[in-house]
Amino acid sequence: MPHAPTPASRASCLDPRPLSARELRAIAELVRQRSGIALHEGKAALVTARLQKRLRATGCASFTEYLDRLEGDDGEEELVRLLDAITTNHTSFFREPEHFEVLATRVVQEWLARRHSRGFEVWSAACATGEEAYSIAITLWEALPDAERRRLRIFASDLSTRALGTARKGIYRADRVREVPGLLQRRHLERGHGPHEGKVRIRAHIRHTVDVAQVNLVEAADIGRRFPVIFCRNVLIYFDRPVQQRVVSMLERHLDPGGYLFIAHSESLNGIAHDLEWVAPAVYRRAVK
Ligand SMILES: C[S@@+](CC[C@H](N)C(=O)[O-])C[C@H]1O[C@@H](n2cnc3c(N)ncnc32)[C@H](O)[C@@H]1O
Repeated sequence: MPHAPTPASRASCLDPRPLSARELRAIAELVRQRSGIALHEGKAALVTARLQKRLRATGCASFTEYLDRLEGDDGEEELVRLLDAITTNHTSFFREPEHFEVLATRVVQEWLARRHSRGFEVWSAACATGEEAYSIAITLWEALPDAERRRLRIFASDLSTRALGTARKGIYRADRVREVPGLLQRRHLERGHGPHEGKVRIRAHIRHTVDVAQVNLVEAADIGRRFPVIFCRNVLIYFDRPVQQRVVSMLERHLDPGGYLFIAHSESLNGIAHDLEWVAPAVYRRAVK
């Protein structure tokens, strides 16, 4: 049942009570079911802070009322907004730079040593606002010969529609691109002028290699193709072990034989069943067969 905001509820939203343990459990269960993200009781303060905005936007007077709304008629739409509010989209260009070194050398050399009927396609499987996908695209553009550049594709996906909006535009605050070496900035980024001062945009030749789409890693079973490289970094860490297992098995099925999976240095496949071989820190490879 939709809830119309009342002056009283708007006033109380300015100072909502802290989440009760029961409310946190109910919200955590919804979030776990829909995104795989495990929210523990220690996260109550963080969740409360992030949900204040949603309470204000929906005019709900309490977290219990907000939960009713999530389970009501327009609950589906609000759930997407809730996940947007709850997910951490922290990322940066060339984050964990060793990975881009492995990609530009070992992975590219192996790719070029074999004949392929199709182009190099990488899946950036939790791309957040797109910095990872564009870092991959720039790295490969630099490392591949001209003919291969033309058929380079990056499939950039995430759960967060808000983050994907930024990824799609490819426009960032100038201070966000500090990690991009000067030469690469000049080749692949353009500085905004006038009303766009202080912003940079990924140049069209790189932007056009990236396709952006929403994929929920927890619900995806088969996205219809395999990749020589998948980046899935800094997201497994939010999942509990059974969800990690499901996601890693799904990613493994999407790797070409001999394909590479990059996870984050803070993550590990210890305790997860898989047939990948360890190649370098946080880099795994599927057997060629
Ligand atoms: C910390 S960011 C990582 C961004 C990038 N991979 C990096 O390492 O910099 C984690 C991302 O995982 C996304 N995420 C969380 N749960 C997800 C799910 N079930 N399916 C797809 N993406 C998810 C979040 O929306 C967020 O953008």
